[in-house]
Amino acid sequence: MKGWMGKFRTLFLFGALSLILSGCGVENLSALKPKGQGADLLFDLMIISIVIMIFVFIIVMAIYTFVLIRYRQKKGQEDIIPKQTEGNKALEILWTVIPIILLLVLAVPTVQATFELAEKPKEADMVVEVTGNQYWWQFDYSNEEISTSQDLYIPTDTRVYLNMKSSDVIHSFWVPSIAGKMDTNPGDNENTMYLEANEEGVYWGHCAELCGPSHSLMDFRVIAVSPEEYDQWVADMQGVDPEAPAETDTAQEGQELFNNNCLSCHAIGAAPKGVGPNLTNFGDRTKIAGILDPSKENLVDWIVNPEDIKPGNQMPSNLVNEKEADKIADYLMQLQPSEITPESAK
Ligand code: CUA
Repeated sequence: MKGWMGKFRTLFLFGALSLILSGCGVENLSALKPKGQGADLLFDLMIISIVIMIFVFIIVMAIYTFVLIRYRQKKGQEDIIPKQTEGNKALEILWTVIPIILLLVLAVPTVQATFELAEKPKEADMVVEVTGNQYWWQFDYSNEEISTSQDLYIPTDTRVYLNMKSSDVIHSFWVPSIAGKMDTNPGDNENTMYLEANEEGVYWGHCAELCGPSHSLMDFRVIAVSPEEYDQWVADMQGVDPEAPAETDTAQEGQELFNNNCLSCHAIGAAPKGVGPNLTNFGDRTKIAGILDPSKENLVDWIVNPEDIKPGNQMPSNLVNEKEADKIADYLMQLQPSEITPESAK
């Protein structure tokens, strides 16, 4: 009796836990709330599989229960051995054919979706080069000759093709609410996928391939704005003059410190890809380093001691002291080239 109670308690605990956990999650980080073409396709596939599974489960359980009740040993029949049957052609054909049909029902849309998701860009399509790095993402808009890191801006209702690779180890680009996921490989093995957002919004992305100690901190965002806003944003980004002096005196001091200490890795404006993130629109970023809220305090902490925040990343710690970092932070936070920001993506 006690054993039964114990088992029941565990079952209850797991049931309650899964109920509670099902309430977790971020609105724009869920494959179960698709808001883009790729995610819609994948969601439909999930639904088909689940419906088939439930159908099979119910039928099997119904037969099981029926047999259990109908053919159980009844009182007074303890000595009777029922008729022994070996093999039944009709049944065997039936339980071979039904799974084949179910597999076909699953396979046809799956193969179709696979080909649709693997669609390659045509001449006029928008293409962004995506590079995974330990532990950040670079986005180069090849046609527009601009770059961002961490925040990828795309126009809504437009298929944006991504050519993806990695500068170091294998990462995986995953924005669950608008698309599936794709590995980025080092070397020449370039992968492609596309993003197409149905509505404006800030969509969360994660690296989905274990890539080092800060893998779980390799977050990014996709910011979908209307096509008009996107064009405006591109024009603003193209208009950035990396040499223009910063707004305030401290920011100007910060700019000088930045140019002397940081610019050898980072880039501002359409400069060629550096080993560090492009910071052209740093002041508009949704997060610092992909994970911290964009406050000056966080930024100073990050500049002085990145190793504490993202272990194993390539940015050297204590390159500048706290006072200098404070000025650099002033400079970086005023890098806001456009009125189109994540706020615009309502
Ligand atoms: Cu990059 Cu995990």
